[in-house]
Amino acid sequence: MGTMIEPLAVAVRALRKSTVKEKDCLVILGSGTIGLLTLVVARQMGYKQIVCTDTAEFNRDMALKHGATLAVNPLESDIVDVVKKLTNGRGADLALIAAGANNIVDQATACVRKRGEIGIIAMITEKIPFYSYQIVINELTMYGAMTYETKDFKEAADMINNGLDLSDFITQTMDLEHTQEGLDVLSQKKEHVVKVMIEL
Ligand SMILES: NC(=O)c1ccc[n+]([C@@H]2O[C@H](COP(=O)([O-])OP(=O)(O)OC[C@H]3O[C@@H](n4cnc5c(N)ncnc54)[C@H](O)[C@@H]3O)[C@@H](O)[C@H]2O)c1
Repeated sequence: MGTMIEPLAVAVRALRKSTVKEKDCLVILGSGTIGLLTLVVARQMGYKQIVCTDTAEFNRDMALKHGATLAVNPLESDIVDVVKKLTNGRGADLALIAAGANNIVDQATACVRKRGEIGIIAMITEKIPFYSYQIVINELTMYGAMTYETKDFKEAADMINNGLDLSDFITQTMDLEHTQEGLDVLSQKKEHVVKVMIEL
């Protein structure tokens, strides 16, 4: 479980950076390792309703298993409609981006309520378009979250030491000689995968 402290600390950091006090609704866009760990941490922090998205059914099922209120395929459903319905038209307090897609920043800004926040964790290295008017008209705040500070790492370690079980997320275990295969599984999603463990 100790190997999961590092990505868990990323999730702690992304949530701790938010300054929104209300925890009525959180949207997590992308339910891979980082999105799912963010879900776990958000539940511990007391978010009441958490809507996750993912294009892969396996990851959506995993999100539901770990307490997501709803898990939405953004290619099939309008995530903004889903969130607005769930929150009686208000929108989410916070949206965290844990996947890359051309429209993902616009999805996040359209999901959150007035004066809500958007945190970007995903490393989206190409330029993508986004609709800045949404940010201005609703006075939104956007931040980036990069790895963690020592206190975030300690908080993640404490969670694991207090018995948080993340073994569900280790979907493949391989030995060192198969590291490249593990990376291929991850990057090409050839199998149902969240985290690949390399055993030394
Ligand atoms: N900021 C940091 O410190 C930090 C740390 C670790 C990872 N990251 C970044 O966070 C992102 C997620 O990392 P990960 O390890 O969870 O990757 P991952 O590949 O395990 O997860 C990404 C998930 O997004 C899903 N997805 C793809 N297109 C989507 C869409 N349009 N809408 C919703 N979901 C979609 C995929 O099916 C996958 O489950 C990556 O960009 C990674 O580089 C950032």
